[in-house]
Amino acid sequence: MRKTVRIKRYNPEKDDAPWWGEYELEVDPTDRVLDALHMVKWYKDGTLTLRRSCAMGICGSDAMRINGKNKLACKTLLKDLPDVITVEPMLGLPVIKDLVVDMEPFMAQYRSVMPWLINETAPPPTERKQSIAEREIFDDTTKCILCACCTTSCPSFWANGEYVGPMAVVQAHRFIFDSRDHGAAQRLAILNDPDGVWRCRTIFNCTKACPREIEITRAIGEVKKALIFSRI
Ligand code: SF4
Ligand code: F3S
Ligand code: FES
Repeated sequence: MRKTVRIKRYNPEKDDAPWWGEYELEVDPTDRVLDALHMVKWYKDGTLTLRRSCAMGICGSDAMRINGKNKLACKTLLKDLPDVITVEPMLGLPVIKDLVVDMEPFMAQYRSVMPWLINETAPPPTERKQSIAEREIFDDTTKCILCACCTTSCPSFWANGEYVGPMAVVQAHRFIFDSRDHGAAQRLAILNDPDGVWRCRTIFNCTKACPREIEITRAIGEVKKALIFSRI
């Protein structure tokens, strides 16, 4: 089958402004957007720049805006898209080149919520035990692959880049509700900042965009509730 792929191109070293590159491709229905981008790069224009690694929905590096929605290129089948496909970098992060955005602001949000286990007590002789029920409470938020589909589809983040964003709240949730962790109060205090979790207006774009199907808005609600009841 034939598809037209329109890719937003931008090389800051030679372009004054972004432009649309249009490529006609003969593809198989089971090909994915990532395969189409490879065809363009390998056979039509080797200067096309994109990130990808695992090609199987695990690493989170090929998130991009496909026909107006954030998706992983390696998990999006061409047969599910119209004949003309538009591919753009994610919104809200600086474009380095073509489909590659600067992830540093996103990673700074990640670091800001201290995404590691905080527990100063002496380790037990074996592991720090946890019941199945205790693990279940934060199981969903362990699935995050840091792709940025959520944060870069959030209108609150587009309006204010200082907002900590849904990914950071998901990551905080993963530790706040972990029975082995003792850093919940610190993380909740960080998220109680004016640019913290309260900037979420429950728009749900993040939940719709998440390729891991994490119930992000629900996790954000649980963090808000924890803040209300913790009296921070
Ligand atoms: Fe990606 Fe989902 Fe993690 Fe957001 S919560 S970074 S959309 S995996
Ligand atoms: Fe944004 Fe998701 Fe909240 S889209 S406003 S973080 S529910
Ligand atoms: Fe790793 Fe798509 S290339 S998630």
